[in-house]
Amino acid sequence: MSETKYVGVLTSGGDTPGLNAALRGMGKAALQNKWQVIGFYDGFRGLMQNRFLRFDEKNLSGILTMGGTILGTSRDKPNKMPIGGKTLDMTAVMVDNYKNHHLDVLVCLGGGGTQKNAHMLQKAGLNIITLPKTIDNDIALTDVSFGFDTALGIATEAIDRLHSTAHSHHRIIVVEVMGHNTGWLALGAGLAGGADVILIPELPYHIENIAQAILQRSRGGKRFSIVCVSEGALSDTDYKQYLKLQADLEKAKESTKKEQKEKARNILAAFEEQRGQSTLNLSKRLEEITGLEARVTILGHLQRGGTPSAADRLLATRLGTAAVRLIEAEQYGVMVAARGETYEPVPLETVVGKRRIVPPDHAWIRSARAVGTCLGD
Ligand code: F6P
Repeated sequence: MSETKYVGVLTSGGDTPGLNAALRGMGKAALQNKWQVIGFYDGFRGLMQNRFLRFDEKNLSGILTMGGTILGTSRDKPNKMPIGGKTLDMTAVMVDNYKNHHLDVLVCLGGGGTQKNAHMLQKAGLNIITLPKTIDNDIALTDVSFGFDTALGIATEAIDRLHSTAHSHHRIIVVEVMGHNTGWLALGAGLAGGADVILIPELPYHIENIAQAILQRSRGGKRFSIVCVSEGALSDTDYKQYLKLQADLEKAKESTKKEQKEKARNILAAFEEQRGQSTLNLSKRLEEITGLEARVTILGHLQRGGTPSAADRLLATRLGTAAVRLIEAEQYGVMVAARGETYEPVPLETVVGKRRIVPPDHAWIRSARAVGTCLGD
């Protein structure tokens, strides 16, 4: 048996089906080794406030199939913690709490933002291991992240169900799918659900092309259309504007003036915020151009709710137990990436700051084009 280890764990960022399965996999394998495991509540905030749950067989039991996370989560960042109306760097407090618990390692379960925050704590001297979770599937250097398969199933089922009502009313139904700034979920669900149009952030769309594809279907006797749009998809003109705002921010970052950076950041944030409106506008414009009636369905947080799929339970359990093997080997500063049937520890610094986007020649895109799906480009 390996020597006793003291393990801290937290879940951070948007909740994802499979988080509890991963906590259970990691926790049970650690308890088998007679290690001590504590789970901090509500992401990095719980680490700062030293609020935690001591793992035992009882509290890890029955959670495999549960959605969400028994630890709770938050989007708080160690270096930008909102406290009493201020934003403070609380990294040092977290380092102290880690040390006071005599932890050997902190395991952080999260998406792209969490990888970055965990890396910050690694640079502050903590031993860190991360697991990749997100329904967006946009974490770099892992084949897949847990949560994606469940969300894909939910979004696909929604598209299946929307078919009959679209068909009955001869309508366009625009269904908005999550995914942040990547199109994995919309592309996957659109393809699996047989959407007629799929719009993703990686391929800026031309509204006229979409309208023409819908009218062509109409002329061919198909009097309904399903448009599956990723929440981050942009029209070609909005995309140009987005690129410009991103470039402005990069330029402002070179400036020594703090206000200039802040201003550019706020303008970009405001633009991203109003992206939520673009699905409604898209639907309205399609009605205007085609003369057909349109409705919008925004799937939203439904996609993150409920029990994880079998594939996600399996993946989360595999990665959770793999984390324990890495702790046994004292291999820290890594993300446990999914690699085929196995896993691979990848250095955290190689993951941070990257995003896994849909390549324009990806097999799913080629298949979508091959079956005649309009991608709006
Ligand atoms: O990253 C997961 C995700 O669900 C994205 O798809 C979505 O853009 C975002 O989180 C929503 O965040 P929140 O739950 O904080 O509104």
